[in-house]
Amino acid sequence: MRPWVFIRGVPAMKFLPPEGPPEIAFAGRSNVGKSSLINALVGKKGLARTSNTPGRTQELNYFVPDGYSGGEDDLPPMALIDMPGYGYASAPKDKVDAWTKLVFDYLKGRVTLKRVYVLIDARHGIKANDEEVLSLLDKAAVSYQIVLTKTDKIKEAGLPRLIANTLERIRKRPAAYPAVLATSSEKGGGLDELRAAIAQAANG
Ligand code: GTP
Ligand code: MG
Repeated sequence: MRPWVFIRGVPAMKFLPPEGPPEIAFAGRSNVGKSSLINALVGKKGLARTSNTPGRTQELNYFVPDGYSGGEDDLPPMALIDMPGYGYASAPKDKVDAWTKLVFDYLKGRVTLKRVYVLIDARHGIKANDEEVLSLLDKAAVSYQIVLTKTDKIKEAGLPRLIANTLERIRKRPAAYPAVLATSSEKGGGLDELRAAIAQAANG
């Protein structure tokens, strides 16, 4: 497999690259593990910057497999987009407002955006601001799938019930993919299933 590389950080909509490869975006509350999951998926620690402090990722960060010119006949098969987290109250309000606007604008208005993975911390479940994002995606008819993160931090026996409860919460949501994935970037759980789902979404 070709190594993945960072190609661009987008601080505002006007800096988005021209529409090209299918885009797969990772959204979720601050600190839920978006950047860690991208690193685990592509097997490259430190590709996306992670931190214990919420608010690490502040731009839309584009990652692609290396070695494509990006020309019309030589596009990478997909781009993975790491997004700033939402729901982080401790940063200056104008910054938080700017990130949130960027995330919401991108999620509503990108033709090449094939699928959004909405990450939910397995310890906390779906919160009110997650619901807001799900509603926006439903309204914009952007396909999304829920991914539970940090499952190494909960008891394994509780997982089936958590997945069932989460599925019940999204049952009536029109743009939600009717399956919930459970992952651990730390231990590697669920990554193969997620890779397969991403490949399918990018090609579909
Ligand atoms: P922002 O960019 O600030 O929105 O955060 P993020 O969603 O990108 O989270 P990030 O990947 O930076 O991870 C946040 C913290 O959670 C880091 O300390 C990670 O090491 C930790 N973390 C992420 N995934 C896992 C996991 O699967 N298991 C465990 N135990 N910790 C994890
Ligand atoms: Mg991040």
